[in-house]
Amino acid sequence: MSLLLKRPDRSYLVRPGDRLETDLGIIEVPDEISPGEYLESHLGTTFLVTKPNTTDFFEHLDRGGAPMIPRDIGLVIGLLGVQSGDRVIDVGTGTGILAIAMARLGVEVVTFERDPDTAELARANVARASVTDAVQVHDGDAVDATLETGFDAMTLDTGDASTLVERASEVLVPGGVVVAYSPFIEQARAVTTSARASKLTSVETYDTVQRMMDFDERGSRPTTGPVGHTGYLTVARFLPTLA
Ligand SMILES: C[S@@+](CC[C@H](N)C(=O)[O-])C[C@H]1O[C@@H](n2cnc3c(N)ncnc32)[C@H](O)[C@@H]1O
Repeated sequence: MSLLLKRPDRSYLVRPGDRLETDLGIIEVPDEISPGEYLESHLGTTFLVTKPNTTDFFEHLDRGGAPMIPRDIGLVIGLLGVQSGDRVIDVGTGTGILAIAMARLGVEVVTFERDPDTAELARANVARASVTDAVQVHDGDAVDATLETGFDAMTLDTGDASTLVERASEVLVPGGVVVAYSPFIEQARAVTTSARASKLTSVETYDTVQRMMDFDERGSRPTTGPVGHTGYLTVARFLPTLA
């Protein structure tokens, strides 16, 4: 079981029994500890023990490549419309954070990662997030792999999503949904072209821009910081008899 040690300006993801050396002192995490309790470092700094949520896991799990950010995970899950008990096929796994987020909602996830080191990192993250029973991380390239069928949804977060989307009709149940994340508009267009050619229906692409707001004594307006574009989300449905 993972726990979060929180202060207003920082947090640490720990397990019972861990020993942590920080600039705020050494923290010995007891074997018996529960959310809601407090822990003190040997220098006297107090931490609140909380249950980590999915965004906390995003912040603290091992990174590799480009993990999907919590906002986009939320958008993907909203577009998929998945719920507890559904089965999702996810390519590629990366850090596993998208798979972990879906698993934490009760979804069963089968995910493919072609880079063996990244697959190992994802397995460790899946274990850290305590969803090993709900996430199967397969090594291998999903373009050529023999894939199971009967999935309610498919998620694609790879440079070759335009090729992989051609397999959606093979793996999805009728009515199933596929969502592809593309950092570049050319990729989103290629995914759209492939999805249409593969007889998927209701193919739509959304830009994912989010602006932070500044509220100060002068007034309120979007921050002058960078525009929060991360990628494009293309969603399509498999409706075999209606295409
Ligand atoms: C952008 S990352 C995915 C990030 C992931 N959604 C997350 O939340 O961490 C893309 C990953 O897909 C893997 N990948 C790319 N093409 C693949 C394929 N055809 N089959 C399996 N994995 C693939 C890459 O090795 C890379 O780790």
